Amino acid sequence: MIRGVDQRADSLVRERRPAHFKLEQAVRPNILSLAPYRCARDDFQEGVLLDANENALGPSLSSGSEQPVPVDALELHRYPHPALHGLRESAASLRSMPDPHFVFIGVGSDEVIDLIQRCFARPGRGKILVCPPTYGMYKVSAAINDLEVVQVPLRFDGSFGLDVPAINAALAADPDIALVFLCSPGNPTGSLLPLDEVRQVLDNANFNGLVIVDEAYIDFALEEQSLGRKNVGTDISACSLVPDYANLIVSQTLSKSFGLAAIRCGLAFAQPATIQVLNNTKAPYSISTTTAYLAAQALAPPGIAKMRENVRQLVENRDTLIAELGRIPALGRVIGGNDANFVMVEVLDGPGGKPDSARAATVYLTMAQEFDLVVRDRSKEPGCDGCLRISIGTADENKQCITLLEKLLA
Ligand SMILES: Cc1ncc(COP(=O)(O)O)c(C=O)c1O
Repeated sequence: MIRGVDQRADSLVRERRPAHFKLEQAVRPNILSLAPYRCARDDFQEGVLLDANENALGPSLSSGSEQPVPVDALELHRYPHPALHGLRESAASLRSMPDPHFVFIGVGSDEVIDLIQRCFARPGRGKILVCPPTYGMYKVSAAINDLEVVQVPLRFDGSFGLDVPAINAALAADPDIALVFLCSPGNPTGSLLPLDEVRQVLDNANFNGLVIVDEAYIDFALEEQSLGRKNVGTDISACSLVPDYANLIVSQTLSKSFGLAAIRCGLAFAQPATIQVLNNTKAPYSISTTTAYLAAQALAPPGIAKMRENVRQLVENRDTLIAELGRIPALGRVIGGNDANFVMVEVLDGPGGKPDSARAATVYLTMAQEFDLVVRDRSKEPGCDGCLRISIGTADENKQCITLLEKLLA
């Protein structure tokens, strides 16, 4: 059985020739048994969408008719120009890389994750190490690439942090671990990982593989820092370590702070030899001309200014949302680091009670199905009992969310 086949469409097949051919036997067993990633949009597509950590304030591009995509000038009948509208140069300058050769452009971070696994881990033998609760695609890509997953859970003490001794012990014990995926700030934890802990993994002499730091949400943490609330005076992005560490890849995306999830543009920062391996392996012309054009606009000074303005507004909206969640008696703690554009809040079995995952699941479904307001149920994740993850919306969307939670939990 191939999972997820549309039965109606399949019934339209006229014949299944030749008789000896069985698709199930042709597919690699790990692909056949794959539980595909269920992205937020698979479940609900309409309504107030506070489920996918998108940027509720829109793209970091000039709006209105001032800046239409110049269809004629882009020469869309030609394959994309390798200069990609100067995207690598702009990304290198934004993240203080020594040179554009320290930058890889991917089809979203999700392609970067998959490509790294394809390049640096051997199917059927290699392993990756992840620290749950974490972003689900690391595991799904591992299943596709026939890689085993070793899990070293995050420590949980109100916030979430790396268990560095356990990670380093796992790496020492298993030479087949080829890649370590760290997420900072984490999804769904929202917790920034201190760089001295990341460095302890990079410096582990028992580990000959690569460390990937996924910084999809880093601009929200940088805003916290610039407000003087956290990590003042220290580097918080692992980009600062790239010029020093040959075993580090930092991945970022334009899908979150830049509000450009639709164009599918991911960035990876690493030393030039590592970047070259990724470039040698990716599909030709993988970044479309329209994506490169729009991404270059977003990474130009006015786009960056707009991104920072939107991030500032979202951080303000997040503070208001957290304060209002705190006033609903049947909700518990807002857990995690709150360093990103979402929060995780506990649904309790009653005022002052215990986190209740069954109730969280019911509330999530009722919100989506009956009231068209979609958050994400994360209650089954380790350390996240009873938790809903709420992406920060506009002030009005957040108000709708609070009103609805108050009503359903009354
Ligand atoms: C931690 C993390 N990494 C990567 C991604 C995917 O980013 P992209 O849209 O660039 O594929 C997400 C999306 O939710 C994420 O949360």
